[in-house]
Amino acid sequence: AAIKKYQFDVQVRNVSRLCHAKPIVTVNGMFPGPTIYAREGDRVIINVTNHAQYNMSIHWHGIKQFRNGWADGPAYITQCPIQTGSAYTYDFNVTGQRGTLWWHAHILWLRATVYGALVIMPKPGTPFPFPQPYSEVNLLLGEWWNNDIEALVKQGNSRGLPPNMSDAHTINGKPGPLFPCSEKHTFAMEVESGKTYLLRIINAALNDELFFAIAGHDMTVVEIDAVYTKPFTTQALLIAPGQTTNVLVQANQAPNRYFMAARPFMDAPLPVDKQMATGILQYKGVPNTVLPSLPQLPASNDTAFALSYNKKLRSLNTPQFPVNVPLKVDRNLFYTIGLGRNPCLTCVNGTRLTGSLNNISFVMPNIGLLQAHYSKIKGVFRTDFPDRPSTPFNYTSAPLTANLGTSQGTRLSKLAFNSTVELVLQDTNLLTVESHPFHLHGYNFFVVGSGIGNFDPAKDPANYNLIDPPERNTVGVPTGGWTAIRFRADNPGVWFMHCHLELHTGWGLKMAFVVEDGEGPDQSVLPPPKDLPPC
Ligand code: C2O
Repeated sequence: AAIKKYQFDVQVRNVSRLCHAKPIVTVNGMFPGPTIYAREGDRVIINVTNHAQYNMSIHWHGIKQFRNGWADGPAYITQCPIQTGSAYTYDFNVTGQRGTLWWHAHILWLRATVYGALVIMPKPGTPFPFPQPYSEVNLLLGEWWNNDIEALVKQGNSRGLPPNMSDAHTINGKPGPLFPCSEKHTFAMEVESGKTYLLRIINAALNDELFFAIAGHDMTVVEIDAVYTKPFTTQALLIAPGQTTNVLVQANQAPNRYFMAARPFMDAPLPVDKQMATGILQYKGVPNTVLPSLPQLPASNDTAFALSYNKKLRSLNTPQFPVNVPLKVDRNLFYTIGLGRNPCLTCVNGTRLTGSLNNISFVMPNIGLLQAHYSKIKGVFRTDFPDRPSTPFNYTSAPLTANLGTSQGTRLSKLAFNSTVELVLQDTNLLTVESHPFHLHGYNFFVVGSGIGNFDPAKDPANYNLIDPPERNTVGVPTGGWTAIRFRADNPGVWFMHCHLELHTGWGLKMAFVVEDGEGPDQSVLPPPKDLPPC
C-alpha cells in the first residue's frame, strides 16, 4: 500500500460557457476538478486550502471512512466548514473498495463547480473481472448555470420557490456544440478501431437523473458505485446524481464521428432537449468536419425503461467478490419521503417548499454532529427519529395535505453497533414526477427490493433479491414507489443520509444515523484530527 498525497487549492476562476463568463469556485483552477488516483489499500492524504470567499468542505462520495467520519466531509455533519484562508487535511484509507467514486463540495450548492473523479485501481496483480480495456476515460456529467448559483438559491429560498433550472447539462464541464458559443466547449474522445474502452461515468449533476447513450455503440455495464456487477449490454443507461457507472465500449463501428449524449429523466418542465449535453466519440483519422449523428435516448418520461434497467443491475457474487447481504434483520425502518409546503412568514407567498422523512424536515445544526456525538455535547441533536410514520396513510394516493404540517428538527436515529438494518424508503411525492436518489454516507447497502405503489410488508419481502442484489451507496427511489435496502451498522460514527437532488436536500429531505461504538478495541470512532476546523 502507498500513500497518495494531493494539494487542493480552492480558488475562484473566471470560466465562460454558453456565451457567459462568470467567476466560479474551483479546485486548483480546474473545472471539473483534478482526478484522485489510488489503489485499493492505499492511504490518501488531501490538504484542502481554502482561498475562496465561501466556506468549504469536501466529501469523498462512496469512501466508507471506517471509524473515520472526520474525513467524510459534509458540513455541520462530520465537520465545521473550512473557513476562507484556512486549511484542513483529509486523511483516509481506501479499504475493500475498487472502482469509480467521486468527490464534491458538501456545503450549499458549491458542488455545482467543485467536483472531480476518484478512481480506485484494484490491488497490484489483481485484474478486473472483465476484459482488460485498451484505455479508459472519465465522463463527469454535470450542470451549468449562466447566473450565480448561490444567488439563485438565496433568492429561491426567500420566495419559497426553487431556483431556476440549469441552462445546460455538461460532459466533463462542456455542454457540447448544440449550445451557443460551445463549439470549443465540446468534450471529444478519440478511439481506435477494434479496441475496447472503459468509461467511468459519474453523475455530478445537482438535480437531474440522466439517460446517457452513444450513437451506434452498445455499452456493457460492469460496475456501479465501485462494486462489480454481472455484465449486461445496453444501448442507454440511467444514472442518478451521486451514482457512478463503469461501462465497456467497443470501437466496432464504421470509422466515423458519433455523438454521446446525456439528458434528464422525468423532471424537466422545459423541453428536455434544451438541456441535452453532447460530446463526441471520434475514430482516429476521421476529419473533424464529418457531422456526427445523435444517439437514441429513452423518452424523458420512459419509466418502463428505468424499471427494467434497474432490474438488470446485479452484484457479481463470486467467491472473490461475495455478496454479504444481511439475511436476518435486527431493526426494521420505514421512512416516507415527502415534499410539501410549510408556512413561512418571510416567504413571498407565505409558504415554503419542504422536504421531509417521516414528516420531519431536517434542521442543520451549528456545530458538527460527529463532534457533538464524540465529545458528548448536549442539546445539539436528539436521537428520537421515528422508525416509522406516526400515522400511516395511503402513501401513494393520499391527497397532498398528508404532506403538510411537517415538523422540523435535528433528529437522528441511533443504531446499535453491528446490528443489521432494513430501511424501506416510501415515496409519497405527489408534487413532482421524479425519483429521489438517496445516498447514505459511511456505508454501501444492498438494494433488496423496489416497487411501484405502497410497500406491503406482508407480501413484498417474499420477492426480495437476497442472492445477488446490487450493492451501492446511492439508490433511486421510484416516483410513487418504494425501495428496500439492507446494511450492517458496523461503522461507528454519525452518517448523513439525504436525497442527492440538491434542491430537495436544501428543503430538508435528509437525516442522519448515529451508529454507536462497539465494545471491541477497533470498534469505536477514532479521535479527531488536530486540524479539524473549529466552528
Ligand atoms: Cu455525494 Cu452527502 O453526498
